[in-house]
Amino acid sequence: MWVRHRVFVQEQGVAPEIEWDEIDRDAIHLAAISGGRVVGAARVFSDGAEWHVGRVAVLQQYRGRGVGTLLMRVAEGIAQERGALEVALNAQAPVVEFYLRLGYSGEGSIFFEAGIPHRRMIKRLTELLTEKALSLELTL
Ligand SMILES: CC(C)(COP(=O)(O)OP(=O)(O)OC[C@H]1O[C@@H](n2cnc3c(N)ncnc32)[C@H](O)[C@@H]1OP(=O)(O)O)[C@@H](O)C(=O)NCCC(=O)NCCS
Repeated sequence: MWVRHRVFVQEQGVAPEIEWDEIDRDAIHLAAISGGRVVGAARVFSDGAEWHVGRVAVLQQYRGRGVGTLLMRVAEGIAQERGALEVALNAQAPVVEFYLRLGYSGEGSIFFEAGIPHRRMIKRLTELLTEKALSLELTL
C-alpha cells in the first residue's frame, strides 16, 4: 500500500480518496519484495463479470528491471487459476506500450480517470501463466 501512496499519490498527484476505493477491500493484493523492501504492487479482482488487474506500480528507482512484468504475470496467473479466460485493465495512456508488450490490446477510446487519460485493454489468457511467472528471475 505504501508503494501505491508513493507512486500514485505523491508522484502522480492522485487524490488519496480516489486512490483508495471499495475495490481494495475484496481485491487480491500483490507485493513485489526485494531485499526485504516492498518495491512494487498491484491488485487483481473480479467484478463478477470479468477479471481486472489494476494499480500496478513500481518504485521509480526499481523500474525497467522486470518488476512490473513479474507483477502482471503473477496477477494473470491468479486470475487464470480462478477461471478467468481473459483479463481487463484500464491503462494510463503513457504506459499503454508496457501492456502491449505483455500481450494486451487496446479497446475503445481514451477516457479520463483521476484526471489521467486511460485506455481499456484486454488480454486473452491462452497459456498457464503461474509457473512461468515463478520461473522469471529478477536481478535488482
Ligand atoms: C508501468 C510500470 C508499472 C512498469 O513497471 P517496470 O517494472 O518498469 O516494467 P518492466 O521493467 O517489467 O518493463 C517491461 C517492458 O516494458 C517497457 N516499459 C516499462 N514502462 C514503460 C513505459 N512507461 N512506456 C513504455 N514502455 C515501458 C520496459 O522498457 C520493458 O521493455 P523491455 O522488455 O524491452 O525491456 C512502472 O513504470 C510504474 O510504476 N509506472 C508508474 C505507475 C503507472 O503508471 N502504473 C500503470 C498504471 S495503469
